[in-house]
Amino acid sequence: MASLAAVGAKHVAKGVGRFTEMVMTEGKGSYLKTECGRTILDFTCGIGVTNLGHCHPGVTKQAQEQVGTLTHGQINLGYNKPQIELIQKLLPVMPHKSLDSFFFWNSGAEAVEASIKLARHATGKQNIIVVQGSYHGRTFGTMALTKSKTIYGAGYAPLMPGVFTTPYPYWHQLGLPHTTANEDLVENALYRLELLLKQETAPRDTAALIIEPVLGEGGYIPAPKGYLEGLRRICDEHGILLIIDEVQTGFGRTGKYFAIEHWPEVRPDIMVIAKGIANGFPLSGIVSRKELMDKQPAGSQGGTYAANAVSCAAACAVQDAFRTEGVFENIDARSHEIFGLFNDLKADPVIGDTIAEVRGLGLMVGVEFKSPTDRYTPAQGKVPANMASRVQNKCLEKDLLVLTTSVYQTIRFIPPLNISKEDMAKGCDIIRNAITEVVKEG
Ligand SMILES: Cc1ncc(COP(=O)(O)O)c(C=O)c1O
Repeated sequence: MASLAAVGAKHVAKGVGRFTEMVMTEGKGSYLKTECGRTILDFTCGIGVTNLGHCHPGVTKQAQEQVGTLTHGQINLGYNKPQIELIQKLLPVMPHKSLDSFFFWNSGAEAVEASIKLARHATGKQNIIVVQGSYHGRTFGTMALTKSKTIYGAGYAPLMPGVFTTPYPYWHQLGLPHTTANEDLVENALYRLELLLKQETAPRDTAALIIEPVLGEGGYIPAPKGYLEGLRRICDEHGILLIIDEVQTGFGRTGKYFAIEHWPEVRPDIMVIAKGIANGFPLSGIVSRKELMDKQPAGSQGGTYAANAVSCAAACAVQDAFRTEGVFENIDARSHEIFGLFNDLKADPVIGDTIAEVRGLGLMVGVEFKSPTDRYTPAQGKVPANMASRVQNKCLEKDLLVLTTSVYQTIRFIPPLNISKEDMAKGCDIIRNAITEVVKEG
């Protein structure tokens, strides 16, 4: 009989590219089990989803109970109980009290599209500005907003019109050396946005600017100080809505409930949430102020599975876990340990020369390696080619799952937020050994 992996290789759509052929059969806490009997430490959390570990007991229990109580309470017919309970739990943790009106959807991309619908409807304007390197999804609307890699949109045109791109304050995208000071990057990027508004999309035609506070698929790059504040100011000056996409950064990933709390002066007009909200159950949403949301005619938002009762019940358990399980203390301690590892490696006379930058917040950690073909990251000695994917493969050989990100040589580390000290130490050892071996092999 063919293995499940062989059946998958033959019958799963090729467009669903994957990095391994392993079949995941079980997940518990920080570990995944596979069809062929491997136990793998998961530093991906299913791309920032199972942030409280696989099959978190409280979340599983609540979802199981809900499955036997009400599975589908369709939200264009009425409210369902877990949907309302979830709102009650989310209201006190909103980064700004103006965020008081919720619409729940299924996936991050759908929620991003809902935010665009809201922005266009509320302002009566069409154009949307995105930043270079952003990722907002793979649906028709969000393909047009995704600027991290051409693979997501190439060959699928025509995409949604009215989208304009402005550079992110990231040295690679501004064509500057990786040693450029943050203030210079910010000044340069804000200047380019002002220019865009003068030369390509007039404020009177521009509904919103959408941005991830930490660029995710673009390379795990927190917005440098002053950038988001600058965007808020420019949006206010021109009557443009600021949409903060917290799909990957939300629910503790960066050490705060929402990443935007790292920039307390920056008030989102609309916030997009998904992934970690329900620890693996499909749920996403947008939050905005009631005055904006109430402009939309009844029935113009919604969908068959929106605010699914089981997903909302799971999300309620997630919020309870954040309140009672010391998750934020753990994030701080484990973040310190993993950044400690990379700072040690950066100080190493041989390995350090291959690392361009260590960056991130909380347990959203990125390491960009230098590349022999990259003029913006010159090295003293010889740097191996394709460091990111080679380190990723070495980690997997040693039973640690990690992901690369961006078109540059970057690896991202997304461990569970409640990972134990021992498992973090184990993961860090594997990473250290993997990098050391790749550098030695040259
Ligand atoms: C910042 C951001 N926005 C939107 C999305 C799209 O979410 P989904 O894959 O659930 O559609 C993602 C997914 O990785 C994301 O990271």
